[in-house]
Amino acid sequence: MSVNKVIKKVTTHVLNEMKLKGEKISMLTAYDYSMARIIDEAGIDVILVGDSASNVMAGYETTLPITLDNMIYHAASVVRGVDRALVVVDLPFGTYQGNSKEALASSIRIMKETGASAVKLEGGSEVVESIERILTAGIPVMGHLGLTPQSIYKFGTYVVRAQQEEEARKLVSDAKLLEETGCFAIVLEKIPAKLAEEVTKSVKIPIIGIGAGPHTDGQVLVLHDMLGITKEFSPRFLRRYHNLNEEIKNAVQCYIADVKNRDFPNEKEQY
Ligand code: KIV
Repeated sequence: MSVNKVIKKVTTHVLNEMKLKGEKISMLTAYDYSMARIIDEAGIDVILVGDSASNVMAGYETTLPITLDNMIYHAASVVRGVDRALVVVDLPFGTYQGNSKEALASSIRIMKETGASAVKLEGGSEVVESIERILTAGIPVMGHLGLTPQSIYKFGTYVVRAQQEEEARKLVSDAKLLEETGCFAIVLEKIPAKLAEEVTKSVKIPIIGIGAGPHTDGQVLVLHDMLGITKEFSPRFLRRYHNLNEEIKNAVQCYIADVKNRDFPNEKEQY
């Protein structure tokens, strides 16, 4: 008899069952092996290799500059650290909009070169053709509506989306369209809680919210934000579970002091 515990992997079907049972879905971003390993061991359901890597890993102001090669590097590192969670990878800006063949080619590269289980892309009716083509290759697709950071130059601001009736109605119809097209889940970012509740009730696929209130089927946050590594970003929806920025700085200052004072290394720390 094997002594190894069999780990039940999270799949898109598991997420569907969770919605049916009313069990909330937990999702966080990760961009590297070590962090992915920690949050997988902690029991997170879904890990998103978000294009927020462009901000938190590469230091760019927006998500636009990150490339497909960059995303593949991050995603392959994450996948090596994960046993249980479903790993979803963002298609970066410019690799799927307006050209469904390119969308499929980008998605195939992600699946082949990283070992991830699904891709995510931003937008509604404008990207349906791309979603349809990606699905023909059997690649699961997660949608993303509401605040879509890849369109920041169109909107000009990161304020709450879909507050006006017209935009709210388009969002509800886009969510239904994404479901009909075959997306297995949708991220709703920074929209009114009541609207997110309406969308969550009007589709059968799981809805994961970020800044979208408590009624969605699950929640997602950027790992570096919830751990308090990033300091500048403080939207109302963000709950910080730690102040790692300070903790890391304190630890590094202690190390510097130990080196300068000749306290490190001591007798036990040498050969
Ligand atoms: O890139 C990202 O981190 C995301 C989340 C904010 C959902 O898309």
